[in-house]
Amino acid sequence: MPPSDQIPTPASKPSMNDLKRLWWQDGVTYQIYPRSFQDSNGDGIGDLNGIFARLDYLVTLGIDAVWISPFNPSPMADFGYDVADYRNVDPIFGTLDDFDRLLVGVHSRGLKLILDFVPNHSSDQHPWFLESRSTRDNPKRDWYLWSDPAPNGGPPNNWTSHFGGSGWAFDQTTGQYFYHSFLAQQPDLNWRNPEVRSAIYDAMRFWLDRGIDGFRMDVLWLLIKDDQLRDNPPHPQWNGALLPLYTADRPEIHQIVAEMRTILAAYPERVLIGEIYLPLRDLIAYYGFDPNTVDLRGADMPFNFHLIQTPWNANSIAELIRNYEAQLPRNAWPNWVLGNHDQTRLATRIGEHQARVAAMLLLTLRGTPTLYNGDELGMTNGTITPDQIQDPAEKNQPGQGMGRDAERTPMLWDRSAGAGFTTGEPWLPLNADYANTCVEVQSQAPRSMLALYRRLLELRRKHPALHAGVIDHVTAESGVLSYRRHFNDQHLQVFLNLTDDLQTITCEDGRVLLTTILDGEGGQVGGKLILEASEGLLIALD
Ligand code: NOJ
Repeated sequence: MPPSDQIPTPASKPSMNDLKRLWWQDGVTYQIYPRSFQDSNGDGIGDLNGIFARLDYLVTLGIDAVWISPFNPSPMADFGYDVADYRNVDPIFGTLDDFDRLLVGVHSRGLKLILDFVPNHSSDQHPWFLESRSTRDNPKRDWYLWSDPAPNGGPPNNWTSHFGGSGWAFDQTTGQYFYHSFLAQQPDLNWRNPEVRSAIYDAMRFWLDRGIDGFRMDVLWLLIKDDQLRDNPPHPQWNGALLPLYTADRPEIHQIVAEMRTILAAYPERVLIGEIYLPLRDLIAYYGFDPNTVDLRGADMPFNFHLIQTPWNANSIAELIRNYEAQLPRNAWPNWVLGNHDQTRLATRIGEHQARVAAMLLLTLRGTPTLYNGDELGMTNGTITPDQIQDPAEKNQPGQGMGRDAERTPMLWDRSAGAGFTTGEPWLPLNADYANTCVEVQSQAPRSMLALYRRLLELRRKHPALHAGVIDHVTAESGVLSYRRHFNDQHLQVFLNLTDDLQTITCEDGRVLLTTILDGEGGQVGGKLILEASEGLLIALD
């Protein structure tokens, strides 16, 4: 028995600083939307060989892991989020051999590869659904959500699709409706059926055995629906909308997430990320905290999208950071996201100046940052004319601002005709300003957005206080958000001016590690300081 002064008390249990840190905690994730990243064969659509050709860019950028949106065989009704074969590569993107080559290329550069996996629904062209819809007594009938019509012949209940209209589609052949959370070409799998679970888990193992480093699970909070098919109630705040009480975040989901975690646990250091749009309290539950063992049994990182949803001002963001940190279960690792292929581009949401402040925020907060391809260039939403619309979310609900094409326009590499993205006709138009925004130009401009991201990523990698340290002193004063990061005897402070005006701050003595205007590095500071409009400052305290 150890002497009593060495018996760990709750207060002296290991902190995050002492625990073994994992690659997905220390590292930064970069999302690649493969259709728009790099085309290698001139068809105007990006592909796996294109990504391979750009791996060195990712190394010089300074990220650690790539998450690639789906590239499985797909009719592309929802651009790959309608999977027709969970164990292969769509010819548009390449072959399994191309994938294997890409994985070797990723690993040989010390990077990790995270696969996007779509467990909630398949394509209606998936052999499972073709079988399921063939007859009512097909063995795979119960693999999807089938139901008789309501007494009036209409849909079984009021559940809607995220892409507009009823979520139920009538199947003439068998006289029943099937449920689809998204397009009718994306029927929802029945996660109450154990065969479905094991088929999906086998598909996960297929990719884990090939050597991938983890999954980003699509719409993880939607996987399981009410078994009694109860109507969703009216939304208390949004007139005419429904509260997704019976179609989202059902209690049974946590068992499924725990099962997924068990699949990954058979492989060393694989990461499970969940796409989950929920209020903090409900989101946190996806870590799967087990109060009996204080272990986590859920996702390693339930994606935290709250920086996208929170009003862009110092008070709101300070409150968000404090609330999130306070609610995280013990040993749960935080994460932050500023953009993805479903959201208006960051620089369009908050403007190009604040986008620089946001870069410093994302890369100096505690927890794994996920960066969306093109945000490191400050790309804005592209302009999509009506005849260029591709996204089914827009086509189904025209004019309601649901379209996502504008944030999916091609990566801008150089000043050539196809911006270095393609030698053909790009599937979505290039952003008009590409000759100024592209990597080629920004790489040569010492104060560009790209230069800022590279510097931030370099500092985050170099300083344990940034990639592993604790966070405290989160404050908001006169529109300036501030916080400190600490690791052992290193103490850093961040000041972010979220306003368009000069602001005066008071800081302890220290040395400037970085400013978002990329000026004044290394200078000594202390006492009263002026922050330029939309300026961020990272200081190493003495
Ligand atoms: C979430 C994905 O991010 C989005 O792009 C897709 O349309 C839906 N899931 C449906 O799979």
